Amino acid sequence: MKAATAISVASVLILTAGGARAQSAESGERTFNQQCKSCHTVEKGGPSPLGPNLFGVIGRKAGSAPGFASSDAMKKSGITWDEASLADYLKDPKAKVPDGKMVFAGLKRPAQLADVIAYLRKATQ
Ligand code: HEC
Repeated sequence: MKAATAISVASVLILTAGGARAQSAESGERTFNQQCKSCHTVEKGGPSPLGPNLFGVIGRKAGSAPGFASSDAMKKSGITWDEASLADYLKDPKAKVPDGKMVFAGLKRPAQLADVIAYLRKATQ
């Protein structure tokens, strides 16, 4: 095996070892801008264009964003948002909150989902 091949094989092994992959808020921000920003803002006191402003969402009761008419389904979901419930919801919104009004198919790629949550953690508090 040539040295260059050995090196690239080794780096692939390192990158995939045990699924260890740092979450990237930067890549999450790109995904957010492409897939969420048309409906959501993250900054304090930001507008709620189509969906609720997400400032302070982690630790907040679902459906309680100020200045936004959340659905009854969201208000009654009993969820308090943490990283696990956000991941569950954003993977498949209609499965988690069946009568909710977020029209979004869900983030199906686990790495993309983790990155968006890393971004939310950083940008919404
Ligand atoms: C087409 C508009 C739209 C898109 C795109 C969208 N959302 Fe939403 N989102 C909504 C609406 C509307 C609600 C309110 C749902 C309800 O009350 O049932 C919501 C609710 C939420 C909530 C719960 C907020 C709360 O206070 O309970 C979170 C978190 C959220 N969205 C995150 C995201 C993220 C992250 C993305 C991108 C991956 C995204 N949304 C994409 C419209 C959208």
